[in-house]
Amino acid sequence: MTETRTLFELLIKKTNQVLKNKSEKDEKLKSVCLLLKENVPHYNWVGFYQVDMKSRNELVLGPYEGEPTEHVRIPFGKGICGQAAKTKTTFLVQDVSKETNYLSCGSNVKSEIVVPIFKNGQIVAELDIDSHALSPFTKEDKTFLNAIAKMVSELF
Ligand code: SME
Repeated sequence: MTETRTLFELLIKKTNQVLKNKSEKDEKLKSVCLLLKENVPHYNWVGFYQVDMKSRNELVLGPYEGEPTEHVRIPFGKGICGQAAKTKTTFLVQDVSKETNYLSCGSNVKSEIVVPIFKNGQIVAELDIDSHALSPFTKEDKTFLNAIAKMVSELF
């Protein structure tokens, strides 16, 4: 088994423990952000965007770990986050300089992956990860982040 797989398995166990503790939803989400950011070297910004349940066409920044971002509200369709929300699928960009529909969070960000979170078949939130590395995300990251997204969906 590769080192990465061992790490991801451990982080899934730790996420499970976070979800079982007695703290509030946002505290748990923040703990998940911290867990991922601190343990996976190529995860430099980890955060959740939540769907505005009134309009259902906008994302609102939730708990995150990393540099503050000006992108607090993102309409569906805009940027990588908005495109993932509109298409309801994972959006992976290995080189953000090649993506024209992109909302920059700083020149040090080189790649990004956004994974939708579903509740009863509806998109309710997203897990967003920025990396300072070019092309750092593998199939293993995708599988891992999908598992995390499924687990945290119980909070929504
Ligand atoms: N880059 C994102 C905006 C959010 S930040 O990465 C935190 C996008 O293009 O949607």
